[in-house]
Order: sequence, then C-alpha cells, then structure tokens
Amino acid sequence: MEENNIINQTIAHVKSCLAEAEAGHDWFHIERVWKNSREIARQETAGLEKTPDLLIIELGALLHDIADSKFHGGDESIGPAKAREFLSSLQVEEEVIRHVEQIITHISFKGGKEMAAFESVELNIVQDADRLDAIGAIGIARAFHYGGFRNRKIYDPAIPPNLNMTKEEYKKSNAPTINHFYEKLFLLMNRMNTSAGKEMAAERHHFMEQFIEQFYKEWEAR
Ligand code: ADP
Ligand code: NI
Repeated sequence: MEENNIINQTIAHVKSCLAEAEAGHDWFHIERVWKNSREIARQETAGLEKTPDLLIIELGALLHDIADSKFHGGDESIGPAKAREFLSSLQVEEEVIRHVEQIITHISFKGGKEMAAFESVELNIVQDADRLDAIGAIGIARAFHYGGFRNRKIYDPAIPPNLNMTKEEYKKSNAPTINHFYEKLFLLMNRMNTSAGKEMAAERHHFMEQFIEQFYKEWEAR
C-alpha cells in the first residue's frame, strides 16, 4: 500500500478510536502532535547523517495515544498491541510496525531517574512533539481541562508542589492543577531532544511563566 494511503487510513482509524476520548487526548491532540512532528522533522533533517523515516514518525504520532494506560487501568501494553493489529491489517512492513510499537511504548518515558530502553531519532521527534502539546497556551488549557476531569482544585496555597514523587505516587496524586506546572510542565523545556523542539519549547515555556505570574497577581488581588 502506498504511504499516503497508509497515513489516510490511519487517520480514519485513530479518529474512530478516539471518538469518545477526553478532550486533552482527543483527535485534535493527535492532529497537533502529528503536525508538530512533521515540522520538527522538517527542521531537524538538515543536521543529521541519516534522514529520519517520515512514515515511522507520522504513524508513531498518529497512533501514540490510541489506548493511553491512564484510561486502561495502567496497562501499558494495550496501545502498542492495538497499533500492531491495525498496521498488520494494512500489510505495513514488520520493521516499521516494530519501530512504531517502540515509539508508543517509550514516548511517555519520564527521563532522569530511569534508563532509556529504546532510542531513535524518530522517537525523539514524536516525543518532542507530544511534549510541546503539554506546554504553552494549549498546555495550560489541557492541564486545567485534565484537572477538571479529575475534579482537582485549581490552586491551594496550603498544598505546595512535590518534586520528589515516584511515577506511581504522581499518578495517584490529587494535587491542585497549578502544582502540575512545577511538577511537570516547567521541566519539559529542558528535556527536549531536538534543537527544533527546544526552540519551539522556549517560546511556550516563557508564555507559561507569564501566565503563572499573572495568576498569582490576580490571586492576591494585586
Ligand atoms: P500525553 O498523553 O499527551 O503524553 P499525559 O497523558 O501525561 O500526556 O497528559 C495529558 C495532558 O494532561 C497533558 O496536557 C498534561 O499536562 C495533563 N495532565 C496530566 N497529568 C496532570 C495533572 N496531574 N494535573 C493537570 N494536568 C495533567
Ligand atoms: Ni499524547
């Protein structure tokens, strides 16, 4: 099957998988990550010895959240398995399928404490694109949306951010959404993999800083 056709069929499949999805992880999130991925790939290609595989990048971006473990009882194997089943039905090459599975498995790798078990330029690009969608104006909207979805407080001065939570504690935490900025969103800029991603992240990071500053100002009626 032609690559264009594979992409179009994947778009249709992902849209139907995510028809009922929560708004922070719906088709529009996927579409933004897909577009960010293509933009980063376009900018990055110049400096690399080996051109990143655009089909793998696009499929990884499109399929990365079809079965988020957060919404499947913590099971992290469902996403990659669903992607494999779908791509096999389109007779996509085994090598491509395996790489896309790896991207889905490792995209939300937190960095820092754990060792990366898989590395590729294609994963780096899709991971950056996904992280970009968690910061800036869209990131702010998604964070408060997610907080509301989980019925969390917006802010509580008596509950300070906790930067030492384990992955498990973090998932269970019911902390106010403002804490999420310190616990995760402000850390993302320094974790970007690609130079194109870093540049895009800097602008979004700066916007979040301004937002937080204004938030406290209004909170204190200054
Ligand atoms: P993705 O699925 O895109 O890799 P996540 O699943 O970690 O990213 O988060 C999805 C969105 O929900 C992000 O915008 C993220 O900031 C937001 N989010 C995740 N956890 C929290 C939280 N504890 N409080 C507020 N927003 C959160
Ligand atoms: Ni995502």
